[in-house]
Amino acid sequence: MKVFVTQKLAGDFVDKLVEKHEVEVWPEREILRKDLLRKVKGVDAILSLLTERIDAEVMEKAGENLKVISNCAVGFDNVEVSEATRRGIVVTNTPAALSESVAEHAMALMLTVMRRIVEGDRYVRSGKFKGWEPDLMVGMTVRRKVLGVVGMGRIGEWTARLGYGLGMKVIYYSRSRSVDVEKECKGEYKEKLDELLKEADVISLNVPLNKETGGMIGKKELMMMKKTAVLINTARGAVVKENELIEVLKEGRIAGAGLDVFEDESRVNTGLFKLDNVVLTPHIASATNEARELMAEMAVNNILRTLAGEEPEGLVNEEVWCRARVHKC
Ligand code: NAP
Ligand code: GLV
Repeated sequence: MKVFVTQKLAGDFVDKLVEKHEVEVWPEREILRKDLLRKVKGVDAILSLLTERIDAEVMEKAGENLKVISNCAVGFDNVEVSEATRRGIVVTNTPAALSESVAEHAMALMLTVMRRIVEGDRYVRSGKFKGWEPDLMVGMTVRRKVLGVVGMGRIGEWTARLGYGLGMKVIYYSRSRSVDVEKECKGEYKEKLDELLKEADVISLNVPLNKETGGMIGKKELMMMKKTAVLINTARGAVVKENELIEVLKEGRIAGAGLDVFEDESRVNTGLFKLDNVVLTPHIASATNEARELMAEMAVNNILRTLAGEEPEGLVNEEVWCRARVHKC
């Protein structure tokens, strides 16, 4: 069968696809929309990244053969899942392959903001440092602070474990409760987001981007946070109203932010660049060799299994399986 891979992946897992199927890998870093629409014509499977929008138009162009869209990411907000489901197309993602890596990154951002690591690095490199001073770049200690996790799923749970390990009190707000976190980390469930916002010293966003979570954190929510609190976002940029965050940070209404994701990642809001109390990373929370290889392997296996009529591990639209376009064994 025909498989189109939208960009080169980590490792050599695509070779496993080549052994069984006719595979084309787009050779460049980025695929233009017009090339994507051209290349998917007649394929049985698409292996996409979160940078490509896989919507009704792409599915229409692919045609009746398209059986599976394998997104090499845990987030799948770039895929129009309802449309795929309507058409009987399986959508898969790469859950659990990167949870620890993303949680580590959230904690790294938290420590970097609270201990002013980036500011310190710039200060030393600029030649301004002339010796120890009692009040130079004084930050905040993490121990005994309250970590508020918003979205207690796979990544949220790891973030809670790491925070607990650093001596933090864990509270969380989520759609459903986590028995594990309540047991392992003495995590306290908050029924309302407001309660978490008011109590936490560090807020880590770990929800997926969906209709309810888009713009979930705006000025109103940010103003509920403590003036000394820090916001960490490794989820999706659009969960936060970025302009409102910039305004609140400028006014010093919260202490800082650590951001790995942005509303428009092709053109990051330059208002963020001027703020010393913000640490920015280029959507690299899952960028460890371990996670990226597992993601690639899983994305490939999801196609191999689906095309072989076996239920894939990262099935997003479970309801489609009984009427999927694939011939099941
Ligand atoms: P997950 O296991 O599905 O966890 C998401 C959690 O959020 C679940 O507990 C879910 O509740 C909860 N949730 C969903 N909608 C909610 C709402 N409206 N209000 C409150 N809670 C809600 O996903 P994950 O693997 O932890 O990944 C989370 C997200 O992180 C991904 O979707 C992706 O956008 C982002 N991410 C970013 C990077 C990066 O590189 N920066 C890397 C990986 C992932 P239920 O348990 O009830 O579903
Ligand atoms: C990365 O952002 C992912 O969703 O895997």
